[in-house]
Amino acid sequence: MPTDTIHIPVLLKEAVDALSVRPGGRYIDCTVGAGGHAETILQHSAPGGQLLGIDADPIATALAQNRLAYYGKSALIINDNFVNLSNICSSHDFEPVNGILFDLGISSMQLSESGHGFSFQHGAPLDMRFDPNQKLSAADIVNTCTETELARILFEFGEETYSRQIANLIVRSRPLFTTDQLATLIEKVKPRRERIHPATKTFQALRIAVNEELNHLELALQQTMTLLGHDGMLVVISYHSLEDRIVKNFMRRESTGCLCHPSLPQCACHHQPRLKLVNKQIIAPSLAEEIANPRSRSAKLRVARRISNSDALTNSSRRSHASTSKKIIPAHSANRKRNLFSTTLNLN
Ligand SMILES: C[S@@+](CC[C@H](N)C(=O)[O-])C[C@H]1O[C@@H](n2cnc3c(N)ncnc32)[C@H](O)[C@@H]1O
Repeated sequence: MPTDTIHIPVLLKEAVDALSVRPGGRYIDCTVGAGGHAETILQHSAPGGQLLGIDADPIATALAQNRLAYYGKSALIINDNFVNLSNICSSHDFEPVNGILFDLGISSMQLSESGHGFSFQHGAPLDMRFDPNQKLSAADIVNTCTETELARILFEFGEETYSRQIANLIVRSRPLFTTDQLATLIEKVKPRRERIHPATKTFQALRIAVNEELNHLELALQQTMTLLGHDGMLVVISYHSLEDRIVKNFMRRESTGCLCHPSLPQCACHHQPRLKLVNKQIIAPSLAEEIANPRSRSAKLRVARRISNSDALTNSSRRSHASTSKKIIPAHSANRKRNLFSTTLNLN
């Protein structure tokens, strides 16, 4: 495999440390990919550790299976979508667990060589499915959605400010079949002012829509609550603000006691926190990691610990959500202090 297509695991040490991997522990890697994080988890959980690795892409699960074959029955690799997390775990009797990892998005292999059309840099059919058995592809969206619906997808899932102009040109130019056709079209309406390629946001938006990524993430995070044992760790690495917002809001809600409106004199919801935030601040890659692996640049890691009801009663505070508000410092702010070690950011 060419070296630029080998996936280098992002925030590897930080993620494995955050999972508090220990010998004999049981862990789930919901996005096993090429098995980079999974392999380190297996090394640290030996002897007696177990890992369940899931991936929606059968090429990825085949790669992981191959890489982790050495660990025999300690590594169970399943080709499925993590939206089915609870069912996968119950059918393999794999619960409760000591830690669950999500390393979201796509791998370098998928970006560079799968021919699935995730990248505008390689000519390929407009596909973008993680799971080749899924019906809906990017070509279906591009060629059948109304102009309004297309503009909404590009704006909501890509935060694309040229969403209406791009949607209009797509509708006037279809049918479109390949990634280069779409990228060339976008270059016609969107000036090359920014550092990123004009097609980046459109491709992100289509990928998210094809794979229902945000919806699946939200649903899978909810399922982790019944799978994590006491003190089990939830660790999520995200790569764009839409994913990170879902993770942040989920962890914040689940680590908060009362969810009633502050104007209510007394709690009526009786919500109990199920998580405790471990790092209220985000962990981001070090400058050294960003240089060694530019694909890590946008990564953000969040960690929370599952707590039991008795912990919740001790930690619960009626207005605990008020205490989590913080100053926002952009991840790539010029003022940000950088060093060669991974950075803890005051991003909220
Ligand atoms: C960034 S890669 C993970 C790389 C992995 N941590 C490693 O070290 O090799 C993300 C993986 O998540 C998978 N994926 C994304 N969404 C998924 C979902 N909803 N269910 C299962 N797998 C998913 C992708 O197919 C991809 O292989």
